[in-house]
Order: sequence, then structure tokens, then C-alpha cells
Amino acid sequence: MVIASPQDLDLFKQAGLQRLYPDTVRLGVGIGSCGLACGADSIMAAVQAGMRPDDGWCVARVGCIGLCEKEPLLDVYQPGKPRIMYGKLTADRVAGIMQAVRAGRDMPDGALFKMTQEELLLENRFRTLGTGAYAGVVEYARHPFFARQMKIALRNCGFIDLDHIEEYVARGGYYALAKVLTAMSPERIIDEVTKSGLRGRGGGGFLTGRKWQSCFNVKAPVKYVICNADEGDPGAYMDRSVMEGDPHSVLEGMAIGAYAIGAHEGYVYIRTEYPLAIVQLEQAIAHARAGGLLGKNIMGSGFDFDVHIARGSGAFVCGESSALIASIEGNPGEPRAKHIHMAESGLWEKPTVLNNVETWANVPAIVMRGAEWFAAIGTPRSTGTKVFSLVGNVNISGLVEVPMGIKLKDIVSEIGGGVPKGKQLKAVQTGGPSGGCIPLHLMDLPVDFDSLAQAGSIMGSGGMIVMDNSACMVDVARYFTEFLMDESCGKCASCREGLKQMGGVLNRICAGAGREGDIALLEDLCDVIANASLCGLGTSAPNPVLSTLRYFRDEYEAHILQKKCPAGVCRALVQYRILADKCIGCGACLRVCPPHAIAGEKKQAHVIDPVLCVKCGQCREVCKFDAVSVE
Ligand SMILES: Cc1cc2nc3c(=O)[nH]c(=O)nc-3n(C[C@H](O)[C@H](O)[C@H](O)COP(=O)(O)O)c2cc1C
Repeated sequence: MVIASPQDLDLFKQAGLQRLYPDTVRLGVGIGSCGLACGADSIMAAVQAGMRPDDGWCVARVGCIGLCEKEPLLDVYQPGKPRIMYGKLTADRVAGIMQAVRAGRDMPDGALFKMTQEELLLENRFRTLGTGAYAGVVEYARHPFFARQMKIALRNCGFIDLDHIEEYVARGGYYALAKVLTAMSPERIIDEVTKSGLRGRGGGGFLTGRKWQSCFNVKAPVKYVICNADEGDPGAYMDRSVMEGDPHSVLEGMAIGAYAIGAHEGYVYIRTEYPLAIVQLEQAIAHARAGGLLGKNIMGSGFDFDVHIARGSGAFVCGESSALIASIEGNPGEPRAKHIHMAESGLWEKPTVLNNVETWANVPAIVMRGAEWFAAIGTPRSTGTKVFSLVGNVNISGLVEVPMGIKLKDIVSEIGGGVPKGKQLKAVQTGGPSGGCIPLHLMDLPVDFDSLAQAGSIMGSGGMIVMDNSACMVDVARYFTEFLMDESCGKCASCREGLKQMGGVLNRICAGAGREGDIALLEDLCDVIANASLCGLGTSAPNPVLSTLRYFRDEYEAHILQKKCPAGVCRALVQYRILADKCIGCGACLRVCPPHAIAGEKKQAHVIDPVLCVKCGQCREVCKFDAVSVE
């Protein structure tokens, strides 16, 4: 069916509600990259195999709900009952769940949470899913991982069937586009987005409304909107999850932005390493075109807009706006000088607005619920929510969306469940490779653009890596500097040569050859790289070194002056030793030691031959008696 007028959306909505809350059972399998990596395809196969011809049940392929840690996930909906979610599933357990549903028996134990209410966000109301069943299963709103979260950009991820655009519409999708096309002038849209305080989620935190206004002000027959889906930060997967789980929210945001600035074509620049996101995006574009929500005369309004996909090849620097544009144009992905404003001369020298995936996904919610609603969330200068990929030494890793201004410790300890194995939290790295490391004593820091910058880090696009006390901060700085050195495009000397020099100094410090004066040398290099580089890669590249020098200077000094690595990470600076008074001679270390450097009789203390030892740390990992020390 083609949506020929905004009223037709209601027909899609009815069909979508029928699928989302059917009169029958609905089983949703999480098929995001995280789900598939954990075997979601075998769960889907088990669901299909367990289906009987006369069941008439509905099966949905949904994206990631954020609890990547618990994949593969199965969402079970039965009319009149709460929605219930199972995690870490196996095909055998799926059969048991389906049998229980069919027989109307109590559901098997082990459910992660239940949902009695579901927010239809853009309509600003809740749908009651049924209460009173599944006693003992924690409510979604009280589940530690979700209780502090607030989902705007991720509002549909994990809920809607990716194969049915109607389900996106049923949760309010494309109503914001209908609203702007029928009832809002471009000026009013831009005003609303400006008043919402929405700042770009791709790293820079530039005010979105102001960016749109600059482009609107330029009179030109051809303009473009671009979605930056390059997402090159190690450990970050926020944008991938949005595109895999709710691609229409991005397309709708882009259509609204295009209407506001006067563009009729858009590009999503996405890395080839995101094959599933590309497939979902291609399908969403095809569905939107077929439904009359992209293409000519959208919803009968006379507005034309279409979206193309441009694939990147995984160069980190191609996430930088001007390098990205060069890459779409078929040129080498190198940045250009900032004095040429994209709002005047962007893609193919036409006025262009470029925003990040999450930024675009926020736009329909702002249009529907209003600037005031959005501006009231978060802090005055960092409004709304932010999505983070919470990874590293944390009990529950996954995708979290929190109101800006939440304390860092609340994300790590409450949502993430703290550091595993009784270890001590040491630092949290935010902002991707060019972000900074925030130490334990600053865990009360509010997570917003300004506070993170004051603490020497950045919001970046939302990577958040938790580190326990086994992390060496010099080694962390070395790792990120080497990443940036490899990813530097080499166009400007300060970045190309400066990062190489800085990597060299960090490597020699970690190798035990640090010299007095190396810290001052690092500081000098940071100064030059930050101030003389052409693009944000270089100007922010010193952050890992500067922040670790600021908070963990003693670790640098221990490496350089005492030739010691306090965390026991830098191999050249450590010796592994078995503590005779703790070793019970179980042989666990002996069995895993790759170069057979450990010897000892059963039930007698073992010893390590320092000449043979390659300092891999396997012995320490397996020892249950804390008998391996690193000195
Ligand atoms: C080296 C480098 C890499 C970047 N990578 C990304 C990226 O992967 N995704 C992104 O949205 N922005 C990235 N940015 C920021 C973009 O240049 C740009 O500011 C952003 O996409 C604008 O969108 P926003 O205003 O919605 O944040 C990167 C910047 C630099 C300097």
C-alpha cells in the first residue's frame, strides 16, 4: 500500500498494532549483530521448527534491546499477559518455552524481565500489556540494567519487526514527518530543533538547529543531507545498533532535516564492516519507497526526498565530516581546511548538513513531543539523552541510553553492575580513541559535554570503556596513540609525524627504555599535535596521553624512573613469581604455560623459570589461590 496522504498512515498504524500486539502469540528473536554472534540464528531456526501449521503465531526479527551481554534473546508476547524476555538461550530451551506457551502452563524459569507497560514514545502514552502474571520475574522498569535508562534514540530497538514498516508506524513512526509536511514551516522546524538544545551526537556536540539554520540561510537549488554512520571508534556500536534495530528513525529524521533545509537527496555513509546494518538500511529504504514515505511527492505533500547508501571502507578518518564527503565523491578520504563551511560548500560543493545517526534518530521524537519536552531532559547545556556502548571490565556490558548529566558511577555501578571478580575500578575511558581516561576519584562526574571536557575527556560518539586495576594507564595511552597513528591520513605533518614520535616515546617507556625528560617531551608533542593539526583526529589525539598524564603521572614515573609497571602489564618491566606459601601444587599453571616455564611436583610449590617465561599471564589467570605475583 502507498501512503498517499498523512491520514493513510493510520491504516499502516492499525496493521502495525495488530502485529505488535496480536490476538495470538508473538515470538521476537533478537537478530542484531550481538545476537547473531551468540547464535540467534539457531534460536530462530528452533522457533521455526517448533511452530505448528495451525498455530498462527507471529514471529518477528527484532534488533538489539541493549542487553548484549545476555544474547541470544527471545521476547515472548501472549495476549493479556506481560511481555517476557528470555536471555542466554539455547535451542533446547526454546522448545520448552514454546511447549509451555502452547499448553498454557507456567513459563519456564530463567526469564530476564517482564514488561507490563510499553511506551509508544511519539504518542506520549503507554500501552498496557497485561499485569499479574510471571510472579518473581523482575519488571523491566526495575531491572538494574534498564531502571536508570531513558530511551529516545533507542526507543524502538528490540521491539519492532525489521521486516514490517507498519510496526515502526504503529509506535508513532513517520507521524513526525507527516506533521512537518502538513503543519510546520521549515523555519518552525529549525526553531524547534534549536530550542530543544539538541547537540550533535557524533562527537563535536555542535548545536543541530544552528547547523540547519546556516544551511537553510544559503539559497541554492541543490542541497544535501548526510547521515554519518562511519562509527570507527574501537568498542563503539551505538550507531550500528540503531541502524540494525530501527533504521526508519534515521530515515525519518533525515527526511525532516531535508525538508527543513530544502534538500531532496540524502546519503547514509556507512562502513562496509557493518553488513547487517547495510542490509537493514537497504530494506528500510525499499520499504519506505514502496510505502510512499521516500521518493516523489511524499504523503501527497509535493515534497520529494530520497536516500542513497554510500559505503566506506573502514578508515577511521573518513568519519571526519570533510574526509567523509571526499570519500563519497570518490576522492581519497582526507580532511580539508575548516574555513570552507559545509553549510555553503559540502557534498559536490553544494550546501550540506551532516549529522550523526543518533542525532538524526532523535529528530522525529523532538518534532512529535516538542522542544520543551526534550530540553527538560538532561542538563541545560546538554539536553536529552546519550547512547553509550558500555564495555570493558564491567559486569553487564551493552548498549545504554541515559539522560545527560547522570553520574559516571551510576552508569558503571548501577547499570553496568560494577567491576567483575571483586576487582577495583580504576578508570573509565570515554570518547573513543581520542577521548580521555577519567579516574576513580571523579566517578561523581556528571556525564555531559562540558563536564567531560573539563575533566580532560570528551563525549565523543559514545564509547565507554571501563577499566579495573589490572589496566596500565601508560599502556592504554600507547594503545590509543598507536591506533590514531595508524589511522592518521598523513595529510598534515603534525599529525603524521607527531603521532609517530609520540607512539615511539610511549613504546620505549613501556619497553623499559624510558628516559628522564620523556614526560616533558610527550607534553611538547601533545601541544604541537593539538595546535597544528588540520582536523579533529590530530587536534584531539593527545587526549589519551594528556588525561593519563594528568591523573596517572605516577605510573609514567614508575615506568621511567623505577623501571616498574605497577599494574603488571608491560612485559619488559615485570617478573612473574610463584609464592611458595600460597601455592598448593595443583598444577593448573603448569598445564597452561605455553613455553613450559613452570616446574614442580604435585602438592608442592611450583617455580617459574624466568628465562623461559614469556610473561603471558596465563598462570595468573588460572591460579585459584592468588599464588602468582607480578613484580
Ligand atoms: C577523526 C574523526 C572521526 C570521526 N568519526 C565520526 C563517526 O564515526 N561518526 C560521527 O557521527 N561523527 C564522527 N566524527 C565527527 C564528524 O566530523 C562530525 O562532527 C559529525 O558527524 C557531525 O554530526 P553531529 O553534529 O550530529 O555530531 C569524527 C570526527 C573526527 C575528527
